[in-house]
Parts: sequence; structure tokens; C-alpha cells
Amino acid sequence: MEGASHELEFCLAQVDDFEQVMSISTDIYNGLDYLPDRYHGWLKDPSRRVILAKKEGKVVALLSVNVVDNGQTAIMEGLRVAPSERGKGIAGVIQQYACALIKSQFPSLEVQRCTRAGELNPDVFTKFQLLCSQEVLDLQFVAEELQPMVGATIGHLKASKQEWKEPIQLAVGDVKRLFLDQQVVEEVLPGGIIIQNWIPFKPFKGNLEVLLKQNITWMADSVVDPTVLSLCSSPYKVPAGANNLCLNIDIFGKDFPRARNQFLSQLHKALSFLQGPTYCFIYLDKTIWSIMHSFCQTVFGLTSQKVIKGQFVLEAKL
Ligand SMILES: CC(C)(COP(=O)(O)OP(=O)(O)OC[C@H]1O[C@@H](n2cnc3c(N)ncnc32)[C@H](O)[C@@H]1OP(=O)(O)O)[C@@H](O)C(=O)NCCC(=O)NCCS
Repeated sequence: MEGASHELEFCLAQVDDFEQVMSISTDIYNGLDYLPDRYHGWLKDPSRRVILAKKEGKVVALLSVNVVDNGQTAIMEGLRVAPSERGKGIAGVIQQYACALIKSQFPSLEVQRCTRAGELNPDVFTKFQLLCSQEVLDLQFVAEELQPMVGATIGHLKASKQEWKEPIQLAVGDVKRLFLDQQVVEEVLPGGIIIQNWIPFKPFKGNLEVLLKQNITWMADSVVDPTVLSLCSSPYKVPAGANNLCLNIDIFGKDFPRARNQFLSQLHKALSFLQGPTYCFIYLDKTIWSIMHSFCQTVFGLTSQKVIKGQFVLEAKL
């Protein structure tokens, strides 16, 4: 298909397009782009389409669409337009093309969903409904330096007894039961959504099957009536610098001591294999952002640079 007014041609991304996709991505997310790590895996995923817009044979935009929620929802990810082509409406055109393509290939689709970062332009709400939002706490550290501090902090909290309740690492059966439990969905998950590393899933069995194939550490404060749940996704290399890693921890629930304990447990586990400079993003309820930040400043001397101001899950009819 062609985007006539922009002289664009659309195609599905191929392995050979990688270098060109990277060349339009150099300024993205302050060097913390996840696409270099995911590109090749995305191409092999049968429930995903990675769409490119090309101009005179050169890649000028990319958008990936991932079909989830038993075929009901198209999740839009990875949108980017070449810096020299921004402000000309190309993002809108590639989104229109992607919606038409995916609807023709997956007729059961009903809605599209995406996550956006930062302050939202009010115009967004003419098209999208806001399902939920989380606040983002970004921390930067050298893994080997932080590891002993996290171990010692857990030790102090354990010694204080009333401050510490050991977070439970969930087994597969617990994940399937808890994340489908009506009360947990309504009272713990933000907007009833499982946000895993920026991807917003409805709590459906099929989605959990997909998530359980990934290298995610699932934790809860209780396997009976949890008030806080967390997911730590596998770290990935980012372009910011040689061997720089990015680690994402999604925390659901509003109880600060329990959220802090899970944050510490997730971090402690991750630090046992992390090495070198690490960017860690913790996504959490906005009511506990300040207290979690103060805790990290006081105990570890880590201050948020506020590189991402909020994570917003949006949905619209397709
Ligand atoms: C954000 C970006 C994709 C916008 O591209 P653009 O072609 O300059 O955007 P335009 O102003 O020409 O087009 C506006 C369209 O893009 C959409 N858009 C703008 N910002 C967007 C964003 N952050 N995420 C998704 N869509 C966005 C608008 O909704 C609008 O769509 P509509 O015409 O259907 O209403 C581009 O600036 C970019 O590549 N930035 C760096 C990467 C990035 O931040 N990606 C967003 C991921 S959340």
C-alpha cells in the first residue's frame, strides 16, 4: 500500500532492515531504546506485525502491532519516525495503515491499546480513553556497588521484624490463579491491567500463558489475598553505552512497606546476575512514588532524574 500524500510505501520489516531501523532510532529514549534488543524476536512472533514506512526505498518510520487478549486487542509498540521526517504527519499515516492491515488479518480485533510516556497532549483524549497510569522512578547505579547495600538493607528490615514480611516468588500456578482472581484484578491491578515492561495486557489466561514463557520474576506479599504484586522483566542491553543495561520492575498496589519489600527483593535477585552500569525503572502507584524515592535517596543515595514523567495506558476502538 502507498501513503500517497507522503510518497510512502509500507512493508513488513525484514532482518535486513535492522541497520536502517537503528539509524532512525539514534535519539530515542535518551539512549535507552529497547528495540535493538527486541527487533529480531519481534520478526519471528506470529501474533505481531512490524510495519515500516519507506520513502525512496529508505526506512522513515516503524510501528509494531501485537495481537493479544485472545485476538481482541492490538497493542501498538515501538512507534518512531526518522528525525528529519517528524512533524509531517507520518506517525498518523503509519498508524492508519497498521490499523487497516491488522484488522484485515485479525478480524476478531475490537480495540487498539498503547502506552505513552510523559505529559499527554489533551488532544489525545479525543481519540483515546485513559485506562490507567503509573508513576515512574528511574534509578541509575553500578550493579556491583549497589548489591551489598541492598543485601544489608534487607538485613536491617528483617531485624526490625514488623517492617519486613518476606515477599513470595510466585510459582506458575500461583500466577495463573492470582492474576485471574476478580478481587486482585479489581483492587490491586491498575485499571485491571497487567502492565509488563510497557505492554498492557488484560488479565486473560492466554496472555498469562504468553507472559509465563518469558523470563519474568513474579512476586506477591501473599498467595491468599495479595495487596502488592510485582513483575521484574529480564534486563536488556541499551545503546546508551557499552554494556549498559536496563531493568524494569512493575509494581502494583498502594501499600508502601510491602511495595518497598518487593522492590528490594526483586532488585536483590536481579543484582545477583547484573553487572555494570544499570538503568532501573520502577513503575508504581503515584501515591507511593515520593516515599519510595525518599527511601532510595536516604538508603542508597540514589536520586531520580525524572527522565520519564508517567506511564499512561490508552485504548481506542479499532
Ligand atoms: C512521536 C513521533 C512518533 C511523532 O511522529 P510525527 O510523524 O512527527 O508525528 P506527527 O505530528 O507528524 O503526527 C501526529 C500523529 O502521531 C501521533 N503521535 C504523536 N505522538 C505520539 C506518541 N508519542 N505515540 C503515539 N502516537 C503519537 C498523534 O496522535 C498523531 O496521530 P493522528 O494524526 O492520528 O492524530 C516522533 O516524534 C518520534 O519518532 N519520536 C521519537 C520516538 C517516540 O517518542 N515515540 C513514541 C513512543 S511512545
